[in-house]
Parts: sequence; C-alpha cells; structure tokens
Amino acid sequence: MNPVHPKHESGTPAPPEVTAEAENLRAELTRHAHLYYVEARPEVGDDEYDRLFRRLQELEAIHPVLGSADSPTRRVGVDPQDKFETVAHVAPLLSLDSTQDADEVRRFDERIRHLLGAGHEPTYILEPKLDGASIELVYEDGILTRAVTRGNGRAGEGVTENVRTIATVPLRLRTDIRPAPAVLALRGEVLMYISDFQNFNAGLIAAGAEPYASPRNSAAGAVRQLDSRITASRRLDLLVYDVLAVEGAVLRSDTEGVEAIRDWGFKVPERIQTATTVEGILAYHEAFGTDRDQLNYEIDGIVIKLDDLTSRAAIGATSHHPRWALAMKFPPRQEITRIDKIDVQVGRTGVLTPVAFLRPVVVGGVTVARASLHNREELRRKDLREGDTVRIQRAGDVIPQVVEVVEHEDPRQPPYEMPTECPACGTAVYEEGPRTKCPNRFGCPAQLQARIVHFGSREALDIEGLGDETATLFVTKGLVGSLAELFDLVPEQLIALEGFAEKSATALVDAIQSKRTPELRRFLIALGIPEVGVTVARDLAQRFMSVEALLAATPDDLAAVDGIGPIMSETITTFLADERNAEAIAAILGRGVAPVGPEPVAADLPDAGSAVFTGTIPIPRTSAEAAWRSVGGRVVSAVSKKTDFVIAGDSAGSKLEKAERLGVTVLDFAAFVEKVRGLGGEVVLL
Ligand code: IVH
Repeated sequence: MNPVHPKHESGTPAPPEVTAEAENLRAELTRHAHLYYVEARPEVGDDEYDRLFRRLQELEAIHPVLGSADSPTRRVGVDPQDKFETVAHVAPLLSLDSTQDADEVRRFDERIRHLLGAGHEPTYILEPKLDGASIELVYEDGILTRAVTRGNGRAGEGVTENVRTIATVPLRLRTDIRPAPAVLALRGEVLMYISDFQNFNAGLIAAGAEPYASPRNSAAGAVRQLDSRITASRRLDLLVYDVLAVEGAVLRSDTEGVEAIRDWGFKVPERIQTATTVEGILAYHEAFGTDRDQLNYEIDGIVIKLDDLTSRAAIGATSHHPRWALAMKFPPRQEITRIDKIDVQVGRTGVLTPVAFLRPVVVGGVTVARASLHNREELRRKDLREGDTVRIQRAGDVIPQVVEVVEHEDPRQPPYEMPTECPACGTAVYEEGPRTKCPNRFGCPAQLQARIVHFGSREALDIEGLGDETATLFVTKGLVGSLAELFDLVPEQLIALEGFAEKSATALVDAIQSKRTPELRRFLIALGIPEVGVTVARDLAQRFMSVEALLAATPDDLAAVDGIGPIMSETITTFLADERNAEAIAAILGRGVAPVGPEPVAADLPDAGSAVFTGTIPIPRTSAEAAWRSVGGRVVSAVSKKTDFVIAGDSAGSKLEKAERLGVTVLDFAAFVEKVRGLGGEVVLL
C-alpha cells in the first residue's frame, strides 16, 4: 500500500522550507544521476539515491504544486498517451551523404577546399556514426521542453515523456560551467547497448514474443511506446552530436559545440577527434573499423564534418544532406559457414523464395541461421548448393546474404531445383521474371498465413502474440479463412488449440480487438498492398486521410503524391480495384474496423506565408513557431513589406510599429491561434 498523503489543491503554494527542500533534493538527485550515468563515478550508493528520490516523490505527492517538468521523479514515466502529436523540428534533421570509398573522401576534401578558397585549410571533426534512433531535443531557458523523432526530417513525433525517462538526458541543462541559452535544439542518437539488447531479446523470446531485429530497431521501438513507463523499463542511452540551433549563445566550431554539449551535462560519442588531411580521416576510419566488434554499441561508419560553423553556413546543404559532411561507412561484416539445406518459402504475395538453412554462425553479434537466396536466377547465378561452404554477410541491419561459395564437397550436391508445384497448396507454379509464384492467391494456406503475420507485424497493426506459429495454427485448424475473420475470434476457439491457456487466449483476442481503430498508415501497411511500406503508407495516409478517399483515388491522384511515381500508383490502384481485394478490405471494415487519419503536417502544405513573432506571447516562442511551420508557414526575424504576418504579443515594440507603418497584417495571439486552426493546425497551449 502506498502511504496516503493529504493532498493540497494544486494551486496552493507549498511552505517555503518545503519548496527549498524539494529544490535541494532535485539538484542533488540531478547531480548524482549525472555522476553515475554520464561520468560513471558515483559519489553515493543506490540506497542513498533511492532515499532521496522517495523523499522528493513524497513531497511532490503532498504538494502537487512542487511538481515540475525537470523533476527527476518524471523519469519513471507517466500515464499512456493515445497517440503522438506531430511536431515540427526547430531546424530540419537532414541525412548524411555516405560512401565506402576512400577516393570519394578525397573528392569530398577537394570540394571543400575549393569552396573554402585559397588560404583556408579545413579542419574536420571525426565521430563514430552511431546506429540508433535519431532524435531532436529542445531546451527552453534550460528546461527540456520537447523531444521529437526524426520523422520525415521536417516534423516528427513528440516523444518528450519517453525521452525524459532516459537517465543520461538532462531534464535541465547544467549551468555551473556555461549558462543555459534561451533556446537550444540538439540532435542525438538513442541507443540500446548490444548486451542490453541481447538480454531484452532473450526475454522476449522466452515470453513467446517476436524479438527485435537489431539494437537500432529496439531503441526506436522503445522511443515510440505510447506508455512511457515501458520506455522507462528499457535500458537506453542518448549521445548528442549536433547543435541544431541555439539562441542566446555563440558557437564558432563543432569542437566548441561538443565542449558546450558536455558542459550542459550530456554524453557525447567517444573518440571524437579532428583531422586536417584525408590520410588522418582514413586512419580514423580504419582504427574504428578494427575496434568495431569490441564496442558494446553498433556503429556503421564514421562521420566527417567540417569543424568551422561559419564555413558550414557558407557551404550549405541540399534538401537531403549538408554539403559539409560525409559519412564513410564500414564494409558489411562477413563470416564463413555451410549451407545445410535449401528449401522454399511461400510469401504473402505467393512468391516462392528459396532459403538457405545455415550452420548457425555469429556475425557481428547476431546469430545467423538462415538467409534468403532471393529467387531462381540469383540461385543459379551464384550456383549455391546444399553442403557448400559459403561466405555470408550482414549489411547494416540483420538481413544476411550469401555472397559466394568458397569451397564445396566432392562430389558436390546437384543444383537445387525449384518445385513445380506450390509446397503449401499443390497448385502448379508459374514464372514471372526471375521469380516463381503460386497463383492461388485466395486459397493457398501459406499465403494467408504470411498475410496474417504481416497484418499483425510491428510496423503494421502491431498485434502482440500473432506470430508465425499462431498464424499457422489458425490457418491449419481452419479458424481463420481471411484477415477479416481475425476479428471474429473468441477466446474459447483458441483455448481448444495446442499451446493456448485461458489467459493467453484472452490476451490475444483482446490484442486483436484493441486494433479496431488503427492509425491509417498502419492499416495501409497491414493490407499488404504491393509497394506500400512504411514511407509510402505514411505519405498516402497524409495525402488521403481516410481509406475511403484512397479507394476512390485515380492513378493520377496517387501519382500526384510526392515520392509516388506512375508505375507505383498503377500497381497500387490495380491492387485496390481488384474485386477480391476490395471485398477483403470491405470485410475488414465491415467488422467495425475504423482506421484513423493522421494530423495534417507541413510537408505537403502550400506556403502559408511568412511570420514575424514579437512581444511576449502566453506560450514558448518556439512552440508558436513550430505550430506555424506545421501548417506550412515560414518564420522570419525581420519585418519588411514582404512579410505576411506579424504576431504581436504583449509589449511589442519597434517591430509592431514597423508592421503598422508598412501595412503588414498584425495578429494578436488569439487571432494567431485562430489562423493556425483555420489552416488545419493546432497550437498546443501549455
Ligand atoms: S551528424 C546532417 N553525427 O546518421 C548532419 N549524424 O545517415 C547531422 N548519425 O540520421 C548528422 N551518428 O542520426 C551525425 N556522429 C554523428 C552521427 C549521426 C549517427 C546518424 C544521424 C542520421 C544518420 C544519417
């Protein structure tokens, strides 16, 4: 039982000595957490830390007014959210141009030298390229106010509550060495250490759940939990490598930025160093490449960035990546093993994929026991046979490939022949280009089983407990004959199956039922429409906002969406127009499944005009600016006759006068909120 405290009304101020004690506790806890997590030299033991923590929790429970966004007690997570808000970034989160080739690094250096002009020798800052989940952190007056996923680079998901639970993220900037700027936007990477990842996955496997494919995926998954208490229960770290924007402090170089980031209390990547020559860069790349397997976190290369910030600004960026930076990736990791057996698997679209079952081998920390051999042609080209000793590799992610045969038995096994009939339903297969397909789209149990697994997969409806084995059981026992029928399942039917008890049966049925109002983009992925993966689904959802609108769209409507070409739009509309597919979708919707469209975001919006903010407004300036950007607006700092709006808060001065003089439209804060709402956006009034 928790002790019961008399609750004061949240507006009632706490007695001054209590306020002082709480402040003191917060400062002490923050200091100890920094010493422990960031500097790895704790001054007190866990018991003492816990005692201080519980005392602060107690004070905040008695005097809710004491609670604050930067309190260490916020690190344990809060009640779940129903969805994430879409939040515009303070500055775009660009990608990096990348290469594996030393000559390209030389050309990059030449280009930079050329752009800098004679007499300017570049200094590069070198860092490991961390393979985690990229995140933006925003601090206002030193307090963490927002954390946003990368999303499409311009706007992402607001995951502030989740990021607060990461022990190495300061909730308030340290200011003992360097003062806090008015606004600070940082970029970093959320990581799960390989050892924690392995433990975590072992736990998932033991519980019958689907393991994550890589530490990066599990870090990204943890950051995107709607229940921040789940995020709090995962061991994550966050390393910061970039100052995206700063107001109220001047930084001249990245080196200085890294120093400032450290002073403010963050962890930065290890082994950051500078180089002035290509040889220096290549030596760093090689050294990190050699040590890579000894690290407890995944890196996929190094990042080379021009150090001087003024030169960076002069050199600029494309819409995709800065021209002053380059990633030099590592070659994929390789190992040698043996193909024990080759067999085919029937996928959800009927494609028969040959698969090599390998003698298990560890490649860069992940055990590989099978590899797709892609298709008939690929198999023939590489001439892979059972019993062969082969070189395999794992690029970036976990998907392993067979590179080549290095040795074979004598006598060698005959070449593998693709079956002439579908191994699952016996229908004669046909060839389509290099692929072999089972034509029995709606009657083949293997295809249905794969569609069910895809429907419940993490990127799609994320139905916990609906894995390979369960889907196979559902199909072979005749419980589920279509995706829609998943929604008809009742616990009694499952209890009758092997491996289900009452609890697990009810949990799975509940998990399915809980997905009746999925996000539209997830629903679109779940349908298994060809070409529609995470990105396309997001863009389609953003453009059409409902299943009905998408079903009504012509190929031209689809092709008008950024990133969707005429061929892709044809494929998608053909799929949706197919009578059996349309029936299957209608059947799902007929079960009361109602996908929810996304919030509108800036990406595809027409220009809403330029705005200058001046004076004091009731919410943080950056939130107002982000709201304006999220409806397609631009934020500028100076008023001119080309300015579309001036948003004038209290005690606005010269900018307001100038606006009036030039006849620029002036909005007060309330009118601004109206305007944003009128454009389909929202101003978060905190
Ligand atoms: S600098 C645009 N530095 O790599 C310049 N990025 O492929 C800002 N990344 O999504 C990025 N480690 O999240 C930078 N030390 C590092 C990095 C790093 C990992 C990620 C970044 C981005 C991806 C680009």
